[in-house]
Amino acid sequence: MVVMTGAGVSAESGVPTFRASDGLWEGHPIEEVATPEGFAADPIKVWRFYEGRRENLLRVAPNPGHHVIAAWQERFSSLMLVTQNVDGLHQRAGSRDVMELHGSIWQIRCSQCHRERVDRTAPMAKLPPICEVCGGLERPGVVWFGEILPQDTLNAAARAAVKADVTLVAGTSAVVYPAAGLVELAANSGAALIEVNPVASALASLATVALRGPSGEVLPALDRLLGFPS
Ligand code: APR
Repeated sequence: MVVMTGAGVSAESGVPTFRASDGLWEGHPIEEVATPEGFAADPIKVWRFYEGRRENLLRVAPNPGHHVIAAWQERFSSLMLVTQNVDGLHQRAGSRDVMELHGSIWQIRCSQCHRERVDRTAPMAKLPPICEVCGGLERPGVVWFGEILPQDTLNAAARAAVKADVTLVAGTSAVVYPAAGLVELAANSGAALIEVNPVASALASLATVALRGPSGEVLPALDRLLGFPS
């Protein structure tokens, strides 16, 4: 079983989803805060944006959808969790070995020597953060538009999608590739596809079953139907 998640699974925790119809992301033009060019032009502005998101995340908690997915990992030993989310809420709910296709907002990487470190504090003492090893400019460890995904993670997720009997896709608009391509890959490899989303996503036509509703309600309901003892 593969569970693939997007921003919608964190919506009920109070984390805004991404796709605003006017091309803005929390009020910012996407190209200014989520591209390498935007970072090169104004690193402090980009860091302020990410610091705002990090501070918000420190105030929120995983919701019942995250908890059900974490519990299923205990029940189905082969369950692989693939996420486009950078918020770390799956891990906080107890999920292990999460394949983070778009990196993590808690990871910080030097743009010069590429050293990575984990930092779970916000706000930081000084912006922008500077690499202690080489003095280079540090950046959020997330994948921006126009950047390639971590190839090992993408390959592992693709292998899981090909092997899956069931792929459950929750809370993603499925418009960003290559992540959305994993759903197509799973469907083309014969997996039954379950979509959990209040509205039809771009790949809804591939779904074997569509469960229309918020994941924080639908996943616990599905869990109860499966009849696992709590
Ligand atoms: N439960 C389930 N799904 C929900 C809920 C909810 N409570 N609320 C909203 N959704 C659905 C929306 O209907 C939409 O289909 O979640 C989806 C969110 O879509 P996006 O905002 O596009 O998020 P995502 O698909 O994760 O975006 C992919 O794009 O901006 C980049 O890198 C960023 O990882 C992100 C990628």
